Amino acid sequence: MTMRRVFSGIQPTADSFHLGNYLGAVRQWVDLQDSRDAIYSVVDMHAITMPYDPETLRRRTKVAAAQLFAAGLDPERCILFAQSQVPEHAELCWILSCLTGFGEANRMTQFKDKSAKGGAEASSVGLFTYPILQAADILLYHADEVPVGEDQRQHLELSRTLAQRFNHRFGKTFTVPAPYILPAVSKITDLQDPTAKMSKSSSSPQGIIDLLDEPAAIRRKINRAVTDAESVVRVDDDAKPGVTNLLRIYAALSGDPAGDIAARYGDAGYGGFKKDLGNLVADTFAPIRERTAKLLDDGDTLDRLLADGARRAGAIAKQTMAEVRDKCGFPPAILAFYSERSRLFGHCPRLLICNRTLLANHTDRGTIQYSRAGNVSEAPVFPLEA
Ligand code: AMP
Ligand code: TRP
Repeated sequence: MTMRRVFSGIQPTADSFHLGNYLGAVRQWVDLQDSRDAIYSVVDMHAITMPYDPETLRRRTKVAAAQLFAAGLDPERCILFAQSQVPEHAELCWILSCLTGFGEANRMTQFKDKSAKGGAEASSVGLFTYPILQAADILLYHADEVPVGEDQRQHLELSRTLAQRFNHRFGKTFTVPAPYILPAVSKITDLQDPTAKMSKSSSSPQGIIDLLDEPAAIRRKINRAVTDAESVVRVDDDAKPGVTNLLRIYAALSGDPAGDIAARYGDAGYGGFKKDLGNLVADTFAPIRERTAKLLDDGDTLDRLLADGARRAGAIAKQTMAEVRDKCGFPPAILAFYSERSRLFGHCPRLLICNRTLLANHTDRGTIQYSRAGNVSEAPVFPLEA
C-alpha cells in the first residue's frame, strides 16, 4: 500500500520558531516522517505579503530550514524545500485565484486580523490572496493530510473547496486534503495573556518562548507566566487558562497525561510546577538550538540540502502542472528535452500524461510537433545540459 502524503508549510517571518509552532506543527512534521510520505516547505513567498527586508528574509529562510533539520527533519525521510525555488506554486496560485470568489477570500479571518492594524486599504493584494497560495502549496503535491495548528483550519477549508471546485469544473485532478490537527497542542497560548494564541506577530517577548531562546530565558519566562490566585494545579480552561496552558505544554513534552501531572503537584503551589516545566522546555530546546547553530555554520551544506529538496519537490510539481495546464486549456510549457551534446531528443512523462503523441522533432527550430485528440500543435523543447 502506498503511504498517505502529508504537506505543510511554515513562514520564515521571525529569527526563531516559537513553542506554539513547535508543539502545534513542527513536532508533528517530525513524527509523520515515519508513517507518511512527507513534504514540507519554508514558505518564503508567504513571507512577503507584509513589508519586509530582502536580506532579513534570505537569512530567516536559512534559519528556518536549519531549525527544522535540527528539530529532526531528515532529508532521507522527507522533502524540505524553500517555496520560491519551485515556481509552480505561483503558477497554480494564479489559476486557483481565478476560481476563488472575491467574497469567499474576503471571509478569511487571518486577512481581517492581519490587515486590521494598517487597514485593509493599505494591505497588499498578496496578503488578501495568501490563502490561495496556501491552497496551491497543498494541491500541487496531492497531499492527503496537512499538519497545522488550529489557526489554519479556515485556510484548509478553502483548499478543500478549491480542490473540489477544480475537479468539478475540469475533471478529477486534485486530492481533497484533510486537516491534521491535534487538539491537545493546536492552540498554545501566550504566557502573559493565556486567552490569546502565542504568536510571533502579537505576543510580547515575555509571552512567547522561542525555540532558540537561551535556557535561562526559557526558565525565567515560565516562572513569570501568568496564572491565577488559587494555587492549585488542575485543568480548567475557563477558570484557569494560564495553568491549563502550562499543563498542556508539560503533557506534550513529557508524554504524561495532564491529569497525572496535575495530581502530582496538586495544591503545593505553582513554584515547583513552574520550575520543573522550565527545565523540561529548556532541556528539550537546548539540543535543537545547538544543532541549529552548527547547521548555520555550514551554509553550503544547508544550501545544498534545500536545492536538493527543491529538485525533488519540483519534479512532482511539474507533473501536476502539466496536467493542470492541459485541463485548463493551456498549451504545454515544456514537453520535451534534448541533450546539447548528442542532439538527441527525449520526452518527459508529461507527454504521456496529457495523451499527446510525438509527431516530429524540429531540431532546427528547437520545437517538437505533437498531436492531441486529432489536433496538431507545436511546443518548445529545452536543453538538458546548459
Ligand atoms: P506560522 O508561524 O504562522 O507560519 O505558523 C506555523 C505553524 O505553527 C502553523 O501550522 C500554525 O498553525 C502553527 N502555530 C502557530 N502558532 C501556534 C500556536 N500558538 N499554537 C499551536 N500551533 C501554532
Ligand atoms: N499559512 C500557514 C501559516 O501561517 C503557512 C502555510 C503556507 C501552510 N502554506 C501552507 C501551512 C501549506 C500548511 C500547508 O501557518
